Amino acid sequence: MKKQPELRTLSSQTCSILFSILMSVVSATSAADPALPCPARCECRGETLDGVGPVYSVNCADNGLSTVPDLAMLRGTGPSYGTGDQDAGTSVAGIDDKIQLRLDKNQIGSIDRSQFISGLGIFKLDISRNKGLTEISEDAFENLSPTLERLSLEALKLTFNRPLSMVSRLSNLRLLSISHNNRRGYVPGAVEHVTVRLFEGPIKRSLQILKMSHCGLRSLSEASLEGLSALEELDLSNNWFTQVPDAVKSLPGLKTLSLFHCYIMKLADFSFIGLTQLTSLHLSANRLAEIEPFAFTGPEGSLEDLRMGRCHLTNVPTDALKVLRKLTYLDLSENRFTEAGPGAFKGSYCLTELLISAAGMTFSDDAFSDQSECIVSLTMKQMGLTSIPREAISKLTSLRRLSLDNNQIESLPADAFSGISASSIRLTGNPLTAIEDHAFRGLSSGLDINLSHTKISGIEFLLGYAEDAIGSVNLDYAGLVCRCSMRDALNATLLANIYGSCLSGTRQVMLSSRELPQIVEDACVQESKRNTGSQAQPMIEMWLTVALSFIGFSSL
Ligand SMILES: *[C@@H]1O[C@H](CO)[C@@H](O)[C@H](O)[C@H]1NC(C)=O
Ligand SMILES: *[C@@H]1O[C@H](CO)[C@@H](O)[C@H](O)[C@H]1NC(C)=O
Repeated sequence: MKKQPELRTLSSQTCSILFSILMSVVSATSAADPALPCPARCECRGETLDGVGPVYSVNCADNGLSTVPDLAMLRGTGPSYGTGDQDAGTSVAGIDDKIQLRLDKNQIGSIDRSQFISGLGIFKLDISRNKGLTEISEDAFENLSPTLERLSLEALKLTFNRPLSMVSRLSNLRLLSISHNNRRGYVPGAVEHVTVRLFEGPIKRSLQILKMSHCGLRSLSEASLEGLSALEELDLSNNWFTQVPDAVKSLPGLKTLSLFHCYIMKLADFSFIGLTQLTSLHLSANRLAEIEPFAFTGPEGSLEDLRMGRCHLTNVPTDALKVLRKLTYLDLSENRFTEAGPGAFKGSYCLTELLISAAGMTFSDDAFSDQSECIVSLTMKQMGLTSIPREAISKLTSLRRLSLDNNQIESLPADAFSGISASSIRLTGNPLTAIEDHAFRGLSSGLDINLSHTKISGIEFLLGYAEDAIGSVNLDYAGLVCRCSMRDALNATLLANIYGSCLSGTRQVMLSSRELPQIVEDACVQESKRNTGSQAQPMIEMWLTVALSFIGFSSL
């Protein structure tokens, strides 16, 4: 899925502190009134949104509001509110900028056009989760239409038994979320099988992103989304579909489709017919057990990213996949395969990244041979592996990253990775206790090894490699104790970036700490004291016995 632009990650407190500092700079250097207009009981500030630029953020969310506050003062006629400290490259947004207005999580009971007056410059509006909002008039957002690009109407008890007429005339709307609506049992009039056309009017030519997750949908007819000619991204995750809904066939411009966590059991032939732009398809966490051979007819020349992890597949769908010539990312992890046979990945594609696993599955030596020059990253996670399927993996001549997280690998013998070309090995979450000398021999130099959440007790395994062999080692949460036996391996920790800590008494000491050599020296002294102490024990016993027997002997 495409990453949505996010708000700057500064905490709101930091933001408002920064903002007031910047505002005081502005008021000191310009004559303009620094008091920014802000509706009652709301918080207002300038922000920068990724991919949007400066916005004026009006936050009235979660405030117990029962009506939309008076927004008249936000009309964009005011002066420009400052350019802030230009030397530092920062600027303070003002009401001349795009406005984002949050009214979500209140108790607003009805919405009509008298509240959203014209000239407000609102580009993003969120009125999600207003309990009891049953009345949104058809023309409620009409005055906002010149500027409104993003609208969130989540969890408002909307029903999908008639067109969503309140959005019809929003001719500039690009993103609409109507997730968490239409849930039968919660929403009067909800329908599980949607047959009506949901969108009419100018929105059909502008809408690019539509989110309809958690809507209790069992089917969406081809007509239901018909005419959304600009739609590129559709989120239908967390619904109750048992097959790919017909609606997608009426969306030829679709690039990203999520059907994550529905109840899809089968991908029938021609499920995605006509979707010749589709690049990303998310089908993970379905009950998917069957894929018909022509299931992917349609996006053969476009699909790059296909996710079918945590499904119920018993066979690698070699036949269905072979036509996907642009496919580079394939997730088949945590399925129900018994094996990946020779030629399992024979097709017109060249994968960069493959994830595949199933409890107890085996890999034929030639399972990956058809992708030998392609795969850069291979993940086999959570499948109970006790050893590394070296033969199959060693066919991958371009491999850089090998991830074997959350398996059952307890020990690594010498040359455990022999023949494998990776420069990054992940073994996190394995019950690994023993790593023999030269376990990592033969891998690419500058090797990054991730052993976090394993049960490794020492760092001696770092010895015996060339200086540049190991680039980094992560031993977070491995439960190491700072011991004398670490002494020899400490030099190796100076060459590699080493993450993690060891326990000295009750204290966690970072493995990269400059104190560690001294702590280890102390541990050596302690350990040798304990050793001589326990050696002294038999001596004392012996002398006692001698002395006692002498006394006994003399008393006879
Ligand atoms: C190692 O794996 C852990 C757990 O997945 C992760 O948090 C960490 O960032 C990884 N470290 C490195 C250096 O890749
Ligand atoms: C560690 O490195 C130092 C300085 O490079 C060297 O004098 C010392 O002998 C090394 N210790 C071991 C155990 O290799």
